[in-house]
Amino acid sequence: MANVAVIGTQWGDEGKGKVVDLYSASTDVIARFQGGNNAGHTIVVNGQQTILHLIPSGILHDRKICIIGNGVVVDPKILIQEIELLKNRGIFPPHTKLFISENAHVIMPYHRRIDVARESHKSGKKIGTTGRGIGPAYEDKTARVGIRICDLIDDEMFKEKLEQNIEEKNFYLTKCFGEEPMDPASIYKEYSGYAEYLKAYIADTSLIIHGALKEGKKILFEGAQGSHLDVDHGTYPYVTSSNTVAGNASCGTGIGPSAVHQVIGICKAYTTRVGEGPFISELTDETGNRIREIGREFGATTGRPRRCGWIDVVLVKQSVRLSGITGIALTKLDVLTGLKTIKICTAYETPQGRKFTESIPSNLRILSQCQPIYEQMEGWSENISHVRHIKELPQNTRRYLKKLESFIGQKFVLVSVGPGRDETIVLKDPFAG
Ligand code: GDP
Ligand code: IMO
Ligand code: MG
Repeated sequence: MANVAVIGTQWGDEGKGKVVDLYSASTDVIARFQGGNNAGHTIVVNGQQTILHLIPSGILHDRKICIIGNGVVVDPKILIQEIELLKNRGIFPPHTKLFISENAHVIMPYHRRIDVARESHKSGKKIGTTGRGIGPAYEDKTARVGIRICDLIDDEMFKEKLEQNIEEKNFYLTKCFGEEPMDPASIYKEYSGYAEYLKAYIADTSLIIHGALKEGKKILFEGAQGSHLDVDHGTYPYVTSSNTVAGNASCGTGIGPSAVHQVIGICKAYTTRVGEGPFISELTDETGNRIREIGREFGATTGRPRRCGWIDVVLVKQSVRLSGITGIALTKLDVLTGLKTIKICTAYETPQGRKFTESIPSNLRILSQCQPIYEQMEGWSENISHVRHIKELPQNTRRYLKKLESFIGQKFVLVSVGPGRDETIVLKDPFAG
């Protein structure tokens, strides 16, 4: 019996929500370990779409424990909206429990204001953030001035920390960006209301997970973003502000690394990226537009069009190494149907002939000179969305899968052929160990 971490192997939006929802049926606890409401995880069940930003993607299953871990940054307003939305739609299961770590940090209104102000003042060097205050909230956490969930629900502590923070933030907002200052009294009033609402959900979630482990229950760790948005290992500075690799499943929930047994890397059959930053296999032509339209590649959080390109195995191989991935879930294979030829980026090359096959260069100047080296394959035209057994896939589709497995050096544990929970070819159960 294994505990499983699910992470993205590219630049996010690989289909983590779909896979976590699917795997939640075989698990007891589902825990988000990093990121915040920059994430948008989509689940489609019986044609009904749910997009989650903070609540773990196991929430649609009854009798589960869903945890927002200490590594997450929580915007209380968004979280309350999400809880209310699920309740109003009658899809918050009666016996499923949601807990928020008391150690998680709170995204405050000044974090959002700073995020947006910085982006709008950067000419040409924008990161293209989601504008949700993620970076500034993690900065405060590291600077040891952040407000944690346990501080938010302690009236005295909250008031004190808010006052200390607002003075500095107002100085920064007004002097650096010429913005209007923020009013601590109205923030205090608004956020005290959120604290009251959320009190019932707050707990020592590390203890809850430990208790579940002792009882032999299974834990599913849900990552957000993707490996190449990791603050240490991604295409810095075009990254998010947390560690997105599997190692953080442990730190971001308060359990030891030995409790994570399997790591499933979610990988799209092509590549997308939202926001700025290098993207070697990007397609800026008709094929890229076609993939965007058919794959509905528009952000689940901001609605921005996602940049699209061919699959890049250099990226994916690096993610396998960084997270100790034990199996790959390949998603959105159906989107490639109808393309005459399909390309796989197998290496990068500089004009001087330097080749990169295992790892992408950290130096962005070198990376910007890199050109993709492609292997080209014949596509397929048959509809594959109804296929549930690998053998029923067209020959060229199977060839594509075999090629990818051999390039990446990993077996597929599932192949997703549509957004629906059931539109999946299951090859291996990661919970079996
Ligand atoms: P996440 O952030 O990794 O959870 O991914 P998103 O939810 O942001 O984006 C993935 C999108 O692809 C969502 O709209 C999913 O419903 C959709 N999706 C997931 N798997 C498949 C698939 O196999 N085929 C198709 N066509 N869509 C899929
Ligand atoms: P999920 O979990 C795709 C990107 C933003 C931007 C960069 C930094 O749905 O896969 P941030 O607001 O985090 O400071 O923005 O990271 N980004 C994502 N891209 N999917 C996500 O999440 C993302 N979360 C952040 O577009 O380029
Ligand atoms: Mg997403």
